[in-house]
Amino acid sequence: MARDVVVVGSINADLILQVERHPRPGETLLGRTSTVLPGGKGANQAVAAARLGADVAMVGAVGEDAYAATALAGLRDAGVDLTHVRTVDAPTGLAVVTLSDDGENTIVVLPGANATVTPHRVDDAEDLVAGARVCVVQAEIPLATVAHVARLAAAGGTRLVLNVAPAAELPPETVAAADPLVVNEHEAAILLGRRYADPAESARELAARGVRSVVVTLGVGGVVGVADGATWSLPARRVDALDTTGAGDAFVGALAAGIADGLAVEQAAALATRVAAASVTRLGAQPSYPWRGDDLP
Ligand code: RIB
Repeated sequence: MARDVVVVGSINADLILQVERHPRPGETLLGRTSTVLPGGKGANQAVAAARLGADVAMVGAVGEDAYAATALAGLRDAGVDLTHVRTVDAPTGLAVVTLSDDGENTIVVLPGANATVTPHRVDDAEDLVAGARVCVVQAEIPLATVAHVARLAAAGGTRLVLNVAPAAELPPETVAAADPLVVNEHEAAILLGRRYADPAESARELAARGVRSVVVTLGVGGVVGVADGATWSLPARRVDALDTTGAGDAFVGALAAGIADGLAVEQAAALATRVAAASVTRLGAQPSYPWRGDDLP
């Protein structure tokens, strides 16, 4: 069955430690609370799209351990098709998120089962990718798989939303297959082989490398994009941020849902900006994402 959105990517359990402030190197701090919530950039994006009403399938892997049920709970709850999520002999991906009182987070990810999402494994989902309106992939699975997914999407005529998060270097042909490529400022600079680059310049420079559309996210600075040769920008919605974990994934998932629904990249980004803003007002990644019909900032 043709899906609106197929996400190939990571599935994690997020162990969230709330602390007054982040520890300095060599320092031991006492934390306040710990919570385990579903996460992983791929799963987060799938849930964000599904909660907005898109028909979504996920391709990925979890382990046989106790974290697997938590990691899949948000996907199940949002009605995401998990036929192509395998249970493998490796620990479920785990992210340790340290969240300070000022809303800033640090994240360490242990890929575990996500490392088994190889090109060969994804071949089992070739028809799913080829039949979808939009395929979304990020860089928390092996980079060879990201490149392979880009090839499968191109061969099937499927629109590819490529989110190069966390920052990674990818072959030019993989990046050029994106429509749109979605990166933050830091990820854009890495793709361009620099330490820093002006966001609008980055978007134009990446587009000049043959990418049909580019979206650079700037957090509270909003987004800047290039599509069809024109540069545009959108402000972020003003909200009281409690936890920014997974806000970028909320943006990508909503963007994919909007594009699958027929919106142009800029219009889909306008929706995604609002969904991301809603997500930072609540704790965690997936539990913070709005459902279709919810009021948005
Ligand atoms: O983008 C946020 C996500 O990054 C978290 O859910 C965590 O699992 C890591 O993958």
